[in-house]
Amino acid sequence: MITRFLYMASTLALTMSGLAAAAQQSPTAPYLDRRAPIEERVEDALARMTLDEKIAVVHAQSKFSSPGVPRLGIPELWCTDGPHGIRPEVLWDEWEQAGWTNDSCTAFPALTALAATWNREMAALYGRSIGEEARYRRKDVLLGPGVNIYRTPLGGRNFEYMGEDPYLAGEMAVPYIRGVQQQGVAACVKHYALNNEETHRHTIDVDLDDRALYEIYLPAFRAAVERGGAWCVMGSYNLYRGQHGCHNKRLINDILKGEWAFDGVVVSDWGGTHSTREAAENGLDIEYGTWTDGLTEGAGDAYDRYFLAEPYRKMILDGELSRRDLDDKVRRVLRLMFRTSMNQDKPFGSLCSPEHAAAARRIGGEGIVLLRNEGGVLPLDDRSCRRIAVVGENAVKMMTVGGGSSSLKVRRECSPLEGIAARAERAGVEVVYARGYVGDVTGSYNGVETGQNLSDSRSEQELIAEAVEAARGADAVIFIGGLNKSDHQDSEGADRLSLDLPYAQNRVIEALAEANDRLAVVLVSGNAVAMPWIGRVPAVVEAWYLGSEAGNALADVLFGDVAPSGKLPFTFPVRLEDCPAHADGSAFPNDGRTLYSEGIFVGYRGYEHSDTPVLFPFGHGLSYTTFEYSGVRAESRSMKEDGTLTLSVDVTNTGDRAASETVQLYIADLRSSLPRPRKELKGFEKVALQPGERATVIFTIDRSALCFYDDRRGEWVAERGEFEALVGASSADIRGSVKFSLK
Ligand code: BGC
Repeated sequence: MITRFLYMASTLALTMSGLAAAAQQSPTAPYLDRRAPIEERVEDALARMTLDEKIAVVHAQSKFSSPGVPRLGIPELWCTDGPHGIRPEVLWDEWEQAGWTNDSCTAFPALTALAATWNREMAALYGRSIGEEARYRRKDVLLGPGVNIYRTPLGGRNFEYMGEDPYLAGEMAVPYIRGVQQQGVAACVKHYALNNEETHRHTIDVDLDDRALYEIYLPAFRAAVERGGAWCVMGSYNLYRGQHGCHNKRLINDILKGEWAFDGVVVSDWGGTHSTREAAENGLDIEYGTWTDGLTEGAGDAYDRYFLAEPYRKMILDGELSRRDLDDKVRRVLRLMFRTSMNQDKPFGSLCSPEHAAAARRIGGEGIVLLRNEGGVLPLDDRSCRRIAVVGENAVKMMTVGGGSSSLKVRRECSPLEGIAARAERAGVEVVYARGYVGDVTGSYNGVETGQNLSDSRSEQELIAEAVEAARGADAVIFIGGLNKSDHQDSEGADRLSLDLPYAQNRVIEALAEANDRLAVVLVSGNAVAMPWIGRVPAVVEAWYLGSEAGNALADVLFGDVAPSGKLPFTFPVRLEDCPAHADGSAFPNDGRTLYSEGIFVGYRGYEHSDTPVLFPFGHGLSYTTFEYSGVRAESRSMKEDGTLTLSVDVTNTGDRAASETVQLYIADLRSSLPRPRKELKGFEKVALQPGERATVIFTIDRSALCFYDDRRGEWVAERGEFEALVGASSADIRGSVKFSLK
């Protein structure tokens, strides 16, 4: 009663004189009452704001911030990249460094590595840890995670995403988001949607059928919003059916805010806004990065000229645009503020703690994928192996600097060579290093310098000769190569030019294989590469970009201190033209429009559909032990429309090392009125087993696991009839199955 009276009194004072700042900021003003429900606080604050104040909060005031409402004591909103660590501070209106000395962070493994853990607990640990770093650095919005689907292995930003399967990406995004947001920091899921190529990313117009949209490209975003409860979503640069992602009516108003009832904020990607009317009417809530020096052309400090700044204000005053749409945006922005910057109960966070280093190392170790291991090359046996030759530029190159907006400034980065050397030294094993090839010697991004001098003027022959000599005298050879974070590799703004390993790496690997048959090739990359030498190399490891603890995490796995348990979140094709997106030669067109002609047949769905052999299938990953699967069974022979079905399988560790296995559940629709993939991932569980130990893994599925999007009716349907549950160690290694029907 008293509160209500004060509220009315202060509103009256505002309307009468525009003064009464003291009353408005009194701790009893409803928007300041931390015990009041957020929606009441939002309405109260909104009612106090002038038109100018409303306009101010829907566009940026600097590269990474938007203003609050100073008169009302509502603080600014600060964003940060994302998604692998907290970006160093840049100048107010530039991408260049602000020169702070307290803004170094922990770099966590790239999101491909996180996805490769297939472990929801790792995603939660990741989210909590990076959220704590964001909080300590006083950020309100973390620009990540990225959940765009891995459509082609040439995608320059695949390393920032979570693979080719929408279910896996969604399952991993949800705990990440919750972990971040528990810190009072919003996760901003990006880039919504269809941002699957960097080539012409600002102008490419994507067209695809509704089945592909709903079944492949949207589910991870939907999971992030509906189950993860994401408070923020970033629009994409590309267009979808003629309209930019940041103000695309169908994607934002109809699907995100309509069908999924998203109550958070849509922010533009930096420089992704192109029209005041569309931004106003099609659901963009905060505009960032437009027309400032840096990403796009134009003048500096031009924030008033943003589409959602003066031009918007003028169109509202002229009656051309509605105040209702503006109020909707401001409500969302206020809601976000009450969840983050205005949340007085949030923790303070922590930066570069030993716990964060341990988290990065653990997640990295769990994400590393053992692709091939013939003849027991791995793990390195530190009793029989007295000398190890390490070859390759990626053994020493810092990988946390570069790659675009995910580039970081780290407190420390342990390189693969350092990690291996430290572990070897403890066991009295000698390590010799040879460069092998010279790739990318640059070492700076937006003013952050690696400080490494990687220049080397030796010829290819000289470098290979040195590497071969080192390999000949060693008990084991570890080649560490792959891609890096420069243009046309794993980097924002451009795509790869081919599936091949760059530089002279294939020739170095061939020469090493010739010199020593105890060779392991370790790839540091966020993408699949072609392996013409695969038959001659006994061991291959995908080690991703692992951040601050890269070398330690890699050494843990190479020496067997951690048994590998990562599984591929995307397929490695044999040749680029095998990839469904490249099959008709239409990927990365120059005419501004791209049609996803492979439809729903993306990744393993496509390779299986066309019976195309692959190099390493989706879900593949070995360990230093073996697992036996038995007794795949269903609790009942049928599922009711509104019911669930429990499926189980027994898994036994049949080797002599403790290890974890990710057990994968795929569902096949045996007869359907529309074409469907041969099978689709609908469940996974990771189990840790001691040697000889057996566990029963249980999956409970419901109707949604059987559904497809019927574009004739515009809805999800599960058709009655026969289905098959396939349980396996990868999409191509099915160990048992059971049929059931939907009644
Ligand atoms: C990227 C976003 C990033 C933003 C801010 C854009 O270029 O596409 O992912 O969050 O810049 O750095």
